[in-house]
Amino acid sequence: MENHYFEMEEETFNREGAHLVAKALLGTLCSADMPNRWDMYAIRNYFCRNAAWCFPTVEWADSMAALCEGKKVLEIGAGNGLIAKLMRARGVDWVATDAAPPERVLSEVEYLRAGHAVDKYVDECDLVFWSWWPYEGSAEDLYAAENFLKRGKRVIVVGESGGGCTGSRDFWESDDIGINYRVPEIREDLPSWDGIHDHTHEVVNSGEEVW
Ligand SMILES: C[S@@+](CC[C@H](N)C(=O)[O-])C[C@H]1O[C@@H](n2cnc3c(N)ncnc32)[C@H](O)[C@@H]1O
Repeated sequence: MENHYFEMEEETFNREGAHLVAKALLGTLCSADMPNRWDMYAIRNYFCRNAAWCFPTVEWADSMAALCEGKKVLEIGAGNGLIAKLMRARGVDWVATDAAPPERVLSEVEYLRAGHAVDKYVDECDLVFWSWWPYEGSAEDLYAAENFLKRGKRVIVVGESGGGCTGSRDFWESDDIGINYRVPEIREDLPSWDGIHDHTHEVVNSGEEVW
């Protein structure tokens, strides 16, 4: 499925923006009225199943591609490969992996559990990325962070921090590697859906600036 609205130039994706997204995705199935909270829920639900769990705007993708320039990136839990598609289109050397990618992907995604993907690619990749690691999922997000950090490589994560609705419990609660977060050098962060607090984080060892 092509999601052409990613080339739209909405500055923020608030309720009105979400309505435009819904129109782009659902066409005539969407009512012309502004969505109420339940419409928003349905739109986000549809969006997550057909596009992505985060909201990768053109501006964010440009910023993220700039951050990754000259690097080889491993993405774990890549879903349908939408972010991979955006990054590859911007020239980033991007390896996308997922334990259970959907039947129809938007860009190539290697069928690989995160732990195995880390073992396979940690030496050749400079940075590991993930977006919306499953809440209370396996702790392979922590495994990925540990393995990249201890080699002096970067870890960039999209989602809700501090025990929000993304990431494994072990990841947020672990002090084994002294996890801390800072804002990476990114010009444009992701917008959030209503009630969601999405951010792009850099995972670092303790002692650095906290988000
Ligand atoms: C909430 S979705 C996020 C998908 C995508 N990153 C996004 O932002 O739209 C979580 C993804 O993680 C994948 N996943 C779950 N457990 C995994 C594991 N142990 N290893 C690799 N991928 C996993 C799922 O198959 C799913 O595609």
